[in-house]
Amino acid sequence: MAKPSGNGQGQGPAPSGAAASPRGDGGRQNDGSKRSGARRRKRRGKRGAGQREGAAASSAAPEKRTASGRKPGPKRQGSPAPKREEAPAALARPVFFVGFMGAGKTSVSRYMARRWKFSAIDLDVYLERREGRVIRDIFAEDGEAAFRAIETDVLREVGESPNPSLVSCGGGIVERPENRELLERLGTVVHLRVSADEAAGRISNKSTRPLFNDIESARALCERRAPLYDAAADVVVDTAGKSVAQIAYEVMRALRRRGDVRPQPKDGQAAAEERDALS
Ligand code: S3P
Repeated sequence: MAKPSGNGQGQGPAPSGAAASPRGDGGRQNDGSKRSGARRRKRRGKRGAGQREGAAASSAAPEKRTASGRKPGPKRQGSPAPKREEAPAALARPVFFVGFMGAGKTSVSRYMARRWKFSAIDLDVYLERREGRVIRDIFAEDGEAAFRAIETDVLREVGESPNPSLVSCGGGIVERPENRELLERLGTVVHLRVSADEAAGRISNKSTRPLFNDIESARALCERRAPLYDAAADVVVDTAGKSVAQIAYEVMRALRRRGDVRPQPKDGQAAAEERDALS
């Protein structure tokens, strides 16, 4: 099994689709799987000239649904994203995004990957590609317990990779004590906090989430998990009313403060060019 590695998005068995789109739905398609990198690039190409991705992309039409029928979220207006290029940064250890479905784990992770040239892996996409089945089918055919066992397996695989990535985890990752132990031991855990009601507004196609059936059960699940997310977390960011870019910058600030990121070392060519320029 190829391990996730390298810089850029979507390594390992999910070469391009592992990193998520800047949306709260994790870039899933109507068939329950997440959108492939190729299709995403095509969609990006269709945006109007000069339209930026991420924060500004939705500011004109916050209520607009995505091609898969989902509302984009968290909301992206009022982005603090500066126009200048950000210097690439490197992760000292994996960063695991946890939080309830619709928290924006995948969106934020993908935004950060683009802005700071991190590697980003969506654990659900990784799992679906490895298993050759979408999560909805794994639940339907084998049940939740089987899904959880696979989830633990991929968490260990991705978390132990020698190349640390931003890892957006499924909302139920904190259910198993074994997973909580892995998260704590292997990296930094970021809890993106969201209420079930806000999450419901961000996820319009709930059929891809077998555990997001109705709002009452989602509220109960979210409430039961909230202390588990908080206990696992090194960093907690409230997402309510914030844009993906705002959340990403908040996370980045916290990671820098903790010493989890450092400027990326220049490669040989860049160092030589700098020497030439200075001589
Ligand atoms: C789940 C969340 C989903 C996915 C699966 C189970 C959960 O991921 O892993 O449907 O138990 O909360 P997202 O949080 O990315 O939607």
